[in-house]
Amino acid sequence: MGMPIGSPLEIRSNSSYDFCPMKKPARQSLLNWYQDNRRPLPWRENPNPYSIWLSETMLQQTTIQVVIPYYEKFLALFPRIETLACAQESKVLKAWAGLGYYSRARNLHRAAKALHQLGYFPQTYGELLKLPGFGPYTSRAVSSIAFGERVGVLDGNVIRLLSRYHGKDVEWWKPAGRQVLQDLADKVVLDFPPGDMNQAMMDLGSTICSKTRPLCALCPLHRSCLGLKQDLVAQLPRKKPRKAKEVWVWEPEVWLRNNKVALHWNESQVPFLKKRWLLPGIARQLKQKPTAFVFRHSITHHDIYVTPVRKKGRRPDKDWQWVPVRDIAEWIPASLVKKTLHHSDIHV
Ligand code: ADE
Repeated sequence: MGMPIGSPLEIRSNSSYDFCPMKKPARQSLLNWYQDNRRPLPWRENPNPYSIWLSETMLQQTTIQVVIPYYEKFLALFPRIETLACAQESKVLKAWAGLGYYSRARNLHRAAKALHQLGYFPQTYGELLKLPGFGPYTSRAVSSIAFGERVGVLDGNVIRLLSRYHGKDVEWWKPAGRQVLQDLADKVVLDFPPGDMNQAMMDLGSTICSKTRPLCALCPLHRSCLGLKQDLVAQLPRKKPRKAKEVWVWEPEVWLRNNKVALHWNESQVPFLKKRWLLPGIARQLKQKPTAFVFRHSITHHDIYVTPVRKKGRRPDKDWQWVPVRDIAEWIPASLVKKTLHHSDIHV
């Protein structure tokens, strides 16, 4: 664990030239702060590449508080990569149910199979990127935290911290702006333990350098923070323009027969929960929110106004699957469907 892996850039750390715009005393303060204040998170107690990968994947979905019980339950069900690789996909999705973005769970499962076949866990960012679901964030987080690769990690907290610290007003959601911050993040980790430095930036960003109530007086970087010096902390980072929400009405058909519910495969007929089993029924986009509906549910930029339609009798459709009520959560572990069935007096 934490084995230092050299990189050609490390050679420069012996020179007196400080290549990082966050100067060495500031980087040292950041590391000291982390050593004194690091949050005791379960994946930090007994770190291994699998648990780090799992936690980083879950943390892209939601907050640490929400992730912890899911993380513990998931590891109890699938304690090793091999267990996950050999599990049924429906079991994996069920353990993920409630975290959302099921494509991440599916990719996690696919990557476990690939790793199981490979027989080893790749240690570099470049190699990890080839695995399903490993984007730049996950690959950098895993390679730096699990294997000590000298690459910086950019998440929302680090973007905020570095934008403020360097007084950089960039469009961080676009490739050019992101690259500016990525370069800065990469330099922070060059001559200090990369996994610790990355996590120090994440922890500092989410606690002290918070979005709405930054506690600059407590910050280990406040002496050299350009954003603070120039009174730009409240303006940085720049706000990302929001993708307009789309209003959809969805009228899912709830067919119940012999305690089984009809599902169909949503290739992309309905714009949310694509490539998943779903209740049949149409969805229409509206310009304005409808006046009559049973409940509302949001998935990414879709605001969905739902009116379940209870159906009786049998409408044979060869593409439908009749799934026992008790198994529904394994087939479609989406809270939208659970709520729909709940409003139809079917409790899964
Ligand atoms: N958010 C995502 N990954 C994290 C980590 N490893 N430490 C702290 N916050 C995080």
